[in-house]
Amino acid sequence: MHKDIAEILVSEEQIEDICQTLGARITKDYQNRRPILVGLLKGCVPFMSDLAKHIDLYVDMEYMAVSSYHGGIASSGDVKIKKDLDTSIQNRDVLIVEDIVDTANTIVTIKNLFAHRGASSVKIVTLLDKPAGRLHDFVPDYVGITIPKAFVVGYGLDYDEIYRNLPYVGILKPEVYRRDE
Ligand code: PRP
Repeated sequence: MHKDIAEILVSEEQIEDICQTLGARITKDYQNRRPILVGLLKGCVPFMSDLAKHIDLYVDMEYMAVSSYHGGIASSGDVKIKKDLDTSIQNRDVLIVEDIVDTANTIVTIKNLFAHRGASSVKIVTLLDKPAGRLHDFVPDYVGITIPKAFVVGYGLDYDEIYRNLPYVGILKPEVYRRDE
């Protein structure tokens, strides 16, 4: 699997530092509150798990399955909810946990939905921010690291459902996805 990676963009050590730093900021910003962390499956899983360990608050941890890439390398723009929340978010402070914000199609859709459902506040924490990919004017509240325009995989991010279990974020060799074109 590692041989398909052209370059490591965010190492395991950097990810651990990011989780510590963001966890401390979130702990401070949400003092005396009990936010709901909402992870957007499937990409959020490693980051949600590692980040939550550094948040020293009572939190709920909930998940939604949302997809817009449908296996390819470009967002379809069509955001599908495959599994909705099991719980009400009315009058709650919601912190959406993402692995990456790229076009922002996903996050804008879900943020608007949560506002419509009556959340008290909706903020976004993302490990990776790729502003060069934006189709919406959107700035996440908490960003781990800003990355350039490249197709990245690992630490939750997939290409055709594989590479999610890489412990780092890397740039996929173009010949890997060209082979499938
Ligand atoms: C990825 C990622 C984000 C979204 C970001 O999810 O996890 O949710 O794309 O892209 P955007 O800003 O262009 O909307 P994907 O739809 O691939 O589903 P997955 O998490 O199951 O891989």
